[in-house]
Amino acid sequence: MARELRDVAFVDGVRTPFGKAGGVYAHTRADDLVIRCIRELLRRNPQLPPERVDEVAIAATTQIGDQGLTIGRTAALLAGLPKSVPGYAIDRMCAGAMTAVTTVASGIAFGAYDVAIAGGVEHMGRHPMGEGVDPNPRILAEKLVDPSALVMGATAENLHDRIPGISKERADAYAYASQQKTAKAYAAGYLQPDLVSVATRDPEQGWGLATVDEAPRPDTSMGRLATLKTPFRPHGKVTAGNAAGLNDGATAAIIAAEDVARELGLPVGMRLVSYAFTGVEPEVMGFGPIPSTEKALRQAGLTINDIGLFELNEAFAVQVLAFLDHFGIADDDPRVNPWGGAIAVGHPLASSGVRLMTQLSRHFAQRPDVRYGLTAMCIGIGMGGTVIWENPAWEGNR
Ligand SMILES: CC(C)(COP(=O)(O)OP(=O)(O)OC[C@H]1O[C@@H](n2cnc3c(N)ncnc32)[C@H](O)[C@@H]1OP(=O)(O)O)[C@@H](O)C(=O)NCCC(=O)NCCS
Repeated sequence: MARELRDVAFVDGVRTPFGKAGGVYAHTRADDLVIRCIRELLRRNPQLPPERVDEVAIAATTQIGDQGLTIGRTAALLAGLPKSVPGYAIDRMCAGAMTAVTTVASGIAFGAYDVAIAGGVEHMGRHPMGEGVDPNPRILAEKLVDPSALVMGATAENLHDRIPGISKERADAYAYASQQKTAKAYAAGYLQPDLVSVATRDPEQGWGLATVDEAPRPDTSMGRLATLKTPFRPHGKVTAGNAAGLNDGATAAIIAAEDVARELGLPVGMRLVSYAFTGVEPEVMGFGPIPSTEKALRQAGLTINDIGLFELNEAFAVQVLAFLDHFGIADDDPRVNPWGGAIAVGHPLASSGVRLMTQLSRHFAQRPDVRYGLTAMCIGIGMGGTVIWENPAWEGNR
Protein backbone atom coordinates (compact mmCIF):
# COMPACT_ATOMS: atom_id res chain seq x y z
CA MET A 1 0.00 0.00 0.00
CA ALA A 2 1.45 3.35 -1.01
CA ARG A 3 1.48 5.85 1.83
CA GLU A 4 1.76 9.59 1.85
CA LEU A 5 3.35 11.38 4.77
CA ARG A 6 1.11 14.02 6.28
CA ASP A 7 2.11 17.47 7.53
CA VAL A 8 1.98 17.71 11.31
CA ALA A 9 0.76 20.80 13.14
CA PHE A 10 1.40 22.05 16.66
CA VAL A 11 -2.11 23.29 17.37
CA ASP A 12 -1.96 24.73 20.87
CA GLY A 13 0.00 24.27 24.08
CA VAL A 14 -0.43 25.23 27.72
CA ARG A 15 1.47 24.79 30.94
CA THR A 16 0.94 25.20 34.63
CA PRO A 17 2.86 28.00 36.27
CA PHE A 18 6.13 26.36 37.32
CA GLY A 19 6.62 26.11 41.09
CA LYS A 20 9.77 25.72 43.14
CA ALA A 21 10.22 22.12 44.25
CA GLY A 22 8.30 21.81 47.49
CA GLY A 23 6.85 25.30 47.00
CA VAL A 24 3.40 26.22 45.80
CA TYR A 25 2.62 22.63 44.69
CA ALA A 26 3.98 20.90 47.79
CA HIS A 27 0.52 19.45 48.49
CA THR A 28 -0.59 19.00 44.88
CA ARG A 29 -0.33 15.67 43.11
CA ALA A 30 1.88 15.51 40.01
CA ASP A 31 -0.81 13.86 37.89
CA ASP A 32 -3.28 16.61 38.81
CA LEU A 33 -0.91 19.16 37.26
CA VAL A 34 -0.90 17.50 33.86
CA ILE A 35 -4.63 16.67 34.02
CA ARG A 36 -5.25 20.39 34.51
CA CYS A 37 -3.28 21.10 31.31
CA ILE A 38 -5.24 18.53 29.27
CA ARG A 39 -8.58 19.88 30.49
CA GLU A 40 -7.52 23.42 29.65
CA LEU A 41 -6.51 22.41 26.11
CA LEU A 42 -9.98 20.93 25.59
CA ARG A 43 -11.62 24.02 27.07
CA ARG A 44 -9.62 26.37 24.85
CA ASN A 45 -10.30 24.30 21.74
CA PRO A 46 -14.00 23.40 21.82
CA GLN A 47 -13.85 22.64 18.07
CA LEU A 48 -11.98 19.46 18.99
CA PRO A 49 -14.46 16.68 19.82
CA PRO A 50 -12.76 14.77 22.70
CA GLU A 51 -13.44 11.46 20.94
CA ARG A 52 -11.24 12.66 18.03
CA VAL A 53 -8.16 12.45 20.29
CA ASP A 54 -6.42 9.26 19.15
CA GLU A 55 -3.58 9.11 21.68
CA VAL A 56 -2.29 10.77 24.84
CA ALA A 57 1.48 10.59 25.44
CA ILE A 58 2.68 12.05 28.74
CA ALA A 59 6.29 12.09 29.89
CA ALA A 60 7.76 11.93 33.37
CA THR A 61 11.32 11.13 34.37
CA THR A 62 10.49 9.44 37.64
CA GLN A 63 7.61 7.13 36.77
CA ILE A 64 6.54 6.05 40.23
CA GLY A 65 3.77 7.06 42.62
CA ASP A 66 1.67 9.92 41.25
CA GLN A 67 3.89 10.01 38.13
CA GLY A 68 3.55 6.28 37.49
CA LEU A 69 0.73 3.94 36.48
CA THR A 70 1.11 4.71 32.75
CA ILE A 71 0.43 8.36 33.33
CA GLY A 72 -0.73 9.12 29.77
CA ARG A 73 -3.61 6.70 30.16
CA THR A 74 -4.60 7.62 33.70
CA ALA A 75 -4.30 11.36 33.04
CA ALA A 76 -6.51 10.97 29.94
CA LEU A 77 -9.20 9.18 31.96
CA LEU A 78 -9.03 11.65 34.84
CA ALA A 79 -9.13 14.60 32.43
CA GLY A 80 -12.51 13.34 31.27
CA LEU A 81 -11.50 12.09 27.83
CA PRO A 82 -13.67 9.19 26.65
CA LYS A 83 -12.53 5.78 27.85
CA SER A 84 -11.93 4.87 24.20
CA VAL A 85 -8.94 7.27 24.11
CA PRO A 86 -5.69 5.39 24.84
CA GLY A 87 -2.56 6.77 26.43
CA TYR A 88 0.97 5.88 27.44
CA ALA A 89 4.00 7.13 29.34
CA ILE A 90 7.30 8.37 27.92
CA ASP A 91 10.73 8.88 29.45
CA ARG A 92 13.71 10.63 27.93
CA MET A 93 14.58 12.60 31.06
CA CYS A 94 14.59 16.36 30.29
CA ALA A 95 13.36 15.75 26.74
CA GLY A 96 10.33 13.68 27.79
CA ALA A 97 7.68 16.07 26.51
CA MET A 98 9.78 16.80 23.41
CA THR A 99 9.89 13.07 22.74
CA ALA A 100 6.15 12.76 23.41
CA VAL A 101 5.58 15.36 20.68
CA THR A 102 7.96 13.83 18.15
CA THR A 103 6.59 10.34 18.81
CA VAL A 104 2.93 11.21 18.31
CA ALA A 105 3.89 13.50 15.42
CA SER A 106 5.55 10.54 13.71
CA GLY A 107 2.38 8.50 14.26
CA ILE A 108 0.34 11.29 12.72
CA ALA A 109 2.66 11.62 9.72
CA PHE A 110 2.42 7.84 9.23
CA GLY A 111 -1.38 7.93 9.39
CA ALA A 112 -1.88 6.06 12.67
CA TYR A 113 -3.48 9.09 14.37
CA ASP A 114 -5.24 12.28 13.33
CA VAL A 115 -5.02 14.11 16.64
CA ALA A 116 -2.99 13.49 19.78
CA ILE A 117 -2.17 15.15 23.07
CA ALA A 118 1.48 15.19 24.17
CA GLY A 119 3.00 16.67 27.29
CA GLY A 120 4.97 16.06 30.41
CA VAL A 121 5.09 16.53 34.13
CA GLU A 122 7.76 16.58 36.79
CA HIS A 123 7.15 17.21 40.45
CA MET A 124 10.75 17.45 41.60
CA GLY A 125 9.53 18.18 45.12
CA ARG A 126 7.70 14.86 45.38
CA HIS A 127 10.21 13.04 43.19
CA PRO A 128 13.73 14.40 43.67
CA MET A 129 16.16 13.76 40.82
CA GLY A 130 17.55 10.27 41.06
CA GLU A 131 14.74 8.92 43.27
CA GLY A 132 14.80 5.12 43.22
CA VAL A 133 17.49 4.82 40.54
CA ASP A 134 19.62 1.69 40.54
CA PRO A 135 22.36 2.18 37.94
CA ASN A 136 23.87 -1.05 36.71
CA PRO A 137 27.26 -1.30 38.48
CA ARG A 138 28.84 -2.17 35.12
CA ILE A 139 28.26 1.43 34.00
CA LEU A 140 30.96 2.62 36.40
CA ALA A 141 32.93 -0.62 36.87
CA GLU A 142 33.57 -0.88 33.15
CA LYS A 143 34.16 2.87 32.96
CA LEU A 144 31.42 3.27 30.36
CA VAL A 145 30.91 6.76 31.75
CA ASP A 146 32.71 9.00 34.20
CA PRO A 147 30.99 9.03 37.64
CA SER A 148 30.29 12.76 37.18
CA ALA A 149 27.95 11.86 34.29
CA LEU A 150 25.19 11.00 36.73
CA VAL A 151 25.13 14.45 38.37
CA MET A 152 23.88 17.04 35.90
CA GLY A 153 25.52 19.97 37.68
CA ALA A 154 28.86 18.12 37.58
CA THR A 155 28.48 17.64 33.82
CA ALA A 156 28.04 21.41 33.54
CA GLU A 157 31.30 21.94 35.48
CA ASN A 158 32.92 19.50 33.01
CA LEU A 159 31.72 21.71 30.14
CA HIS A 160 33.40 24.71 31.72
CA ASP A 161 36.61 22.65 31.88
CA ARG A 162 36.37 21.80 28.19
CA ILE A 163 35.62 25.38 27.09
CA PRO A 164 37.76 27.72 29.20
CA GLY A 165 36.45 30.65 27.13
CA ILE A 166 33.14 30.35 28.96
CA SER A 167 33.99 32.03 32.24
CA LYS A 168 31.80 32.13 35.32
CA GLU A 169 31.23 35.84 34.69
CA ARG A 170 29.97 35.08 31.19
CA ALA A 171 27.64 32.36 32.50
CA ASP A 172 26.35 34.75 35.18
CA ALA A 173 25.80 37.49 32.60
CA TYR A 174 23.78 35.08 30.47
CA ALA A 175 21.73 34.07 33.55
CA TYR A 176 21.17 37.69 34.53
CA ALA A 177 19.92 38.47 31.01
CA SER A 178 17.54 35.49 31.15
CA GLN A 179 16.01 36.87 34.35
CA GLN A 180 15.68 40.32 32.81
CA LYS A 181 14.10 39.02 29.61
CA THR A 182 11.58 36.96 31.59
CA ALA A 183 10.67 39.96 33.74
CA LYS A 184 10.11 42.07 30.62
CA ALA A 185 8.03 39.32 28.98
CA TYR A 186 5.85 39.07 32.09
CA ALA A 187 5.43 42.84 32.20
CA ALA A 188 4.39 42.81 28.55
CA GLY A 189 1.91 39.97 29.19
CA TYR A 190 3.63 37.60 26.75
CA LEU A 191 4.00 34.59 29.06
CA GLN A 192 0.58 34.64 30.69
CA PRO A 193 -1.39 33.20 27.71
CA ASP A 194 0.58 29.93 28.07
CA LEU A 195 -0.41 29.52 31.71
CA VAL A 196 -3.33 27.63 33.19
CA SER A 197 -3.98 28.55 36.81
CA VAL A 198 -3.92 25.72 39.34
CA ALA A 199 -5.90 25.55 42.57
CA THR A 200 -3.61 24.59 45.44
CA ARG A 201 -4.26 23.56 49.01
CA ASP A 202 -1.93 23.79 51.94
CA PRO A 203 -2.85 22.20 55.30
CA GLU A 204 -1.76 25.36 57.12
CA GLN A 205 -2.44 28.15 54.65
CA GLY A 206 -5.62 26.77 53.08
CA TRP A 207 -6.65 27.20 49.46
CA GLY A 208 -4.60 29.13 46.95
CA LEU A 209 -4.34 29.73 43.22
CA ALA A 210 -1.06 29.45 41.33
CA THR A 211 -1.18 31.96 38.47
CA VAL A 212 2.48 32.85 37.83
CA ASP A 213 5.84 31.10 37.92
CA GLU A 214 7.33 30.93 41.39
CA ALA A 215 11.04 30.78 40.55
CA PRO A 216 11.93 33.99 38.62
CA ARG A 217 14.23 36.42 40.44
CA PRO A 218 13.79 39.71 38.61
CA ASP A 219 15.69 41.53 41.37
CA THR A 220 18.89 39.55 41.05
CA SER A 221 22.11 41.38 40.18
CA MET A 222 25.51 40.46 38.78
CA GLY A 223 26.96 41.29 42.20
CA ARG A 224 24.64 38.85 43.99
CA LEU A 225 25.16 36.14 41.36
CA ALA A 226 28.93 36.40 41.87
CA THR A 227 28.56 35.53 45.57
CA LEU A 228 26.58 32.28 45.18
CA LYS A 229 28.02 28.94 46.23
CA THR A 230 29.19 26.40 43.66
CA PRO A 231 27.45 23.25 44.96
CA PHE A 232 28.85 20.84 42.39
CA ARG A 233 32.57 21.56 42.94
CA PRO A 234 34.61 23.65 45.37
CA HIS A 235 35.60 26.86 43.56
CA GLY A 236 33.53 25.75 40.59
CA LYS A 237 31.53 27.88 38.16
CA VAL A 238 28.00 26.46 38.29
CA THR A 239 25.67 28.04 40.87
CA ALA A 240 21.98 28.14 41.72
CA GLY A 241 21.94 31.42 39.79
CA ASN A 242 23.33 30.23 36.45
CA ALA A 243 21.51 26.85 36.46
CA ALA A 244 17.86 25.96 36.13
CA GLY A 245 16.43 25.17 39.53
CA LEU A 246 14.44 22.27 40.93
CA ASN A 247 10.81 22.74 39.93
CA ASP A 248 7.28 21.32 39.81
CA GLY A 249 5.13 21.74 36.71
CA ALA A 250 3.37 20.25 33.72
CA THR A 251 2.72 20.98 30.05
CA ALA A 252 0.47 19.62 27.30
CA ALA A 253 -0.11 20.32 23.62
CA ILE A 254 -2.48 19.29 20.86
CA ILE A 255 -0.64 17.84 17.86
CA ALA A 256 -2.66 17.07 14.72
CA ALA A 257 -2.43 16.30 11.04
CA GLU A 258 -2.53 19.73 9.43
CA ASP A 259 -5.41 18.85 7.12
CA VAL A 260 -7.45 17.49 10.07
CA ALA A 261 -6.68 20.61 12.13
CA ARG A 262 -7.97 22.77 9.30
CA GLU A 263 -11.04 20.57 8.78
CA LEU A 264 -11.90 20.85 12.50
CA GLY A 265 -11.21 24.58 12.55
CA LEU A 266 -8.28 24.21 14.95
CA PRO A 267 -5.44 26.75 14.80
CA VAL A 268 -2.15 25.72 13.22
CA GLY A 269 0.45 27.34 15.44
CA MET A 270 3.50 25.65 13.89
CA ARG A 271 4.31 23.07 11.23
CA LEU A 272 6.84 20.34 12.03
CA VAL A 273 9.87 20.46 9.72
CA SER A 274 12.34 17.96 11.18
CA TYR A 275 13.60 16.54 14.45
CA ALA A 276 16.66 14.70 15.69
CA PHE A 277 18.02 13.19 18.87
CA THR A 278 21.70 12.34 19.22
CA GLY A 279 24.07 10.99 21.86
CA VAL A 280 27.27 12.57 23.16
CA GLU A 281 29.69 11.69 25.96
CA PRO A 282 27.47 11.50 29.06
CA GLU A 283 29.94 13.47 31.20
CA VAL A 284 29.46 16.51 28.94
CA MET A 285 25.78 16.02 28.26
CA GLY A 286 25.33 19.76 27.74
CA PHE A 287 26.96 19.45 24.30
CA GLY A 288 23.97 17.33 23.22
CA PRO A 289 21.92 19.96 21.36
CA ILE A 290 24.85 20.75 19.05
CA PRO A 291 24.89 17.48 17.06
CA SER A 292 21.10 17.09 17.32
CA THR A 293 20.70 20.55 15.79
CA GLU A 294 23.22 19.79 13.04
CA LYS A 295 21.32 16.61 12.23
CA ALA A 296 17.88 18.25 12.28
CA LEU A 297 19.17 21.09 10.05
CA ARG A 298 20.70 18.56 7.63
CA GLN A 299 17.44 16.62 7.44
CA ALA A 300 15.53 19.81 6.73
CA GLY A 301 18.04 21.06 4.14
CA LEU A 302 18.49 24.23 6.19
CA THR A 303 21.44 26.03 7.75
CA ILE A 304 21.63 27.71 11.14
CA ASN A 305 21.23 31.07 9.33
CA ASP A 306 17.73 30.05 8.22
CA ILE A 307 16.57 29.91 11.84
CA GLY A 308 14.89 33.14 12.91
CA LEU A 309 14.03 32.18 16.49
CA PHE A 310 15.59 29.80 19.01
CA GLU A 311 13.91 28.41 22.12
CA LEU A 312 16.81 26.71 23.91
CA ASN A 313 16.27 25.02 27.24
CA GLU A 314 18.54 26.68 29.76
CA ALA A 315 19.50 23.71 31.93
CA PHE A 316 22.76 25.53 32.60
CA ALA A 317 24.08 28.81 31.18
CA VAL A 318 27.36 27.14 30.17
CA GLN A 319 25.51 24.61 28.06
CA VAL A 320 23.56 27.26 26.13
CA LEU A 321 26.76 29.26 25.65
CA ALA A 322 28.54 26.18 24.28
CA PHE A 323 25.73 25.87 21.71
CA LEU A 324 25.90 29.56 20.78
CA ASP A 325 29.71 29.48 20.44
CA HIS A 326 29.55 26.42 18.23
CA PHE A 327 27.12 28.07 15.82
CA GLY A 328 28.78 31.50 15.98
CA ILE A 329 25.81 33.19 17.64
CA ALA A 330 26.35 36.07 20.10
CA ASP A 331 25.36 35.59 23.77
CA ASP A 332 22.80 38.39 23.47
CA ASP A 333 21.49 37.58 19.98
CA PRO A 334 17.86 38.74 19.99
CA ARG A 335 16.76 35.55 18.19
CA VAL A 336 17.67 33.45 21.23
CA ASN A 337 15.14 32.97 24.05
CA PRO A 338 13.66 36.45 23.58
CA TRP A 339 11.38 35.96 26.61
CA GLY A 340 14.04 34.38 28.83
CA GLY A 341 14.24 30.72 29.70
CA ALA A 342 14.53 27.96 32.25
CA ILE A 343 17.15 29.76 34.36
CA ALA A 344 14.34 32.16 35.27
CA VAL A 345 11.07 30.23 34.96
CA GLY A 346 12.41 26.80 35.93
CA HIS A 347 12.83 23.38 34.38
CA PRO A 348 10.49 20.66 35.64
CA LEU A 349 12.44 18.07 33.66
CA ALA A 350 10.09 16.02 31.48
CA SER A 351 7.64 18.88 30.98
CA SER A 352 9.98 21.50 29.52
CA GLY A 353 10.03 20.46 25.86
CA VAL A 354 6.42 21.53 25.37
CA ARG A 355 7.07 24.82 27.19
CA LEU A 356 9.70 25.63 24.54
CA MET A 357 7.29 24.73 21.73
CA THR A 358 4.32 26.62 23.15
CA GLN A 359 6.46 29.69 23.58
CA LEU A 360 7.86 29.42 20.05
CA SER A 361 4.34 29.18 18.63
CA ARG A 362 3.40 32.41 20.45
CA HIS A 363 6.47 34.10 18.95
CA PHE A 364 5.49 32.86 15.51
CA ALA A 365 2.07 34.47 15.82
CA GLN A 366 3.77 37.79 16.60
CA ARG A 367 6.55 37.42 14.02
CA PRO A 368 5.33 36.84 10.46
CA ASP A 369 8.80 37.90 9.30
CA VAL A 370 10.24 34.65 10.72
CA ARG A 371 9.89 31.45 8.73
CA TYR A 372 11.75 28.85 10.81
CA GLY A 373 12.24 28.38 14.54
CA LEU A 374 14.07 25.79 16.56
CA THR A 375 13.51 24.18 19.96
CA ALA A 376 16.44 22.31 21.50
CA MET A 377 17.56 20.86 24.80
CA CYS A 378 20.27 18.80 26.44
CA ILE A 379 19.32 15.49 28.01
CA GLY A 380 20.76 13.45 30.88
CA ILE A 381 23.10 10.52 30.18
CA GLY A 382 24.48 12.45 27.26
CA MET A 383 21.91 13.34 24.62
CA GLY A 384 20.49 16.29 22.77
CA GLY A 385 17.16 16.87 21.07
CA THR A 386 16.18 19.41 18.42
CA VAL A 387 12.88 20.09 16.68
CA ILE A 388 12.64 22.56 13.79
CA TRP A 389 9.31 24.26 13.10
CA GLU A 390 7.90 26.41 10.30
CA ASN A 391 5.73 29.45 10.96
CA PRO A 392 2.39 29.08 9.11
CA ALA A 393 1.95 32.86 9.50
CA TRP A 394 5.21 33.54 7.62
CA GLU A 395 4.52 36.46 5.31
CA GLY A 396 6.26 34.71 2.41
CA ASN A 397 3.30 32.30 2.39
CA ARG A 398 0.81 35.05 1.78
C1 LIG B 1 21.97 24.42 41.72
C2 LIG B 1 21.09 23.73 42.76
C3 LIG B 1 21.83 22.60 43.44
C4 LIG B 1 20.70 24.80 43.80
O1 LIG B 1 19.77 24.22 44.65
P1 LIG B 1 19.33 24.96 45.99
O2 LIG B 1 20.51 25.15 46.87
O3 LIG B 1 18.14 24.28 46.50
O4 LIG B 1 18.92 26.39 45.40
P2 LIG B 1 18.30 27.63 46.10
O5 LIG B 1 17.18 28.12 45.30
O6 LIG B 1 18.06 27.37 47.57
O7 LIG B 1 19.48 28.68 45.95
C5 LIG B 1 20.66 28.62 46.74
C6 LIG B 1 20.97 30.04 47.20
O8 LIG B 1 21.18 30.85 46.06
C7 LIG B 1 20.29 31.94 46.06
N1 LIG B 1 19.92 32.19 44.66
C8 LIG B 1 19.51 31.27 43.76
N2 LIG B 1 19.32 31.85 42.57
C9 LIG B 1 19.62 33.15 42.73
C10 LIG B 1 19.61 34.24 41.85
N3 LIG B 1 19.26 34.14 40.58
N4 LIG B 1 19.97 35.44 42.35
C11 LIG B 1 20.34 35.56 43.63
N5 LIG B 1 20.36 34.56 44.51
C12 LIG B 1 20.00 33.36 44.05
C13 LIG B 1 19.13 31.51 46.92
O9 LIG B 1 18.46 32.59 47.48
C14 LIG B 1 19.82 30.68 47.97
O10 LIG B 1 20.39 31.57 48.90
P3 LIG B 1 20.49 31.19 50.46
O11 LIG B 1 21.40 30.00 50.53
O12 LIG B 1 21.06 32.42 51.07
O13 LIG B 1 19.09 30.88 50.88
C15 LIG B 1 19.79 23.16 42.09
O14 LIG B 1 18.98 24.21 41.65
C16 LIG B 1 20.11 22.25 40.95
O15 LIG B 1 20.51 21.10 41.16
N6 LIG B 1 19.91 22.71 39.68
C17 LIG B 1 20.16 21.91 38.51
C18 LIG B 1 18.96 21.09 38.21
C19 LIG B 1 19.27 20.06 37.14
O16 LIG B 1 20.28 19.40 37.17
N7 LIG B 1 18.38 19.93 36.18
C20 LIG B 1 18.56 19.02 35.11
C21 LIG B 1 19.33 19.69 34.06
S1 LIG B 1 19.92 18.55 32.89
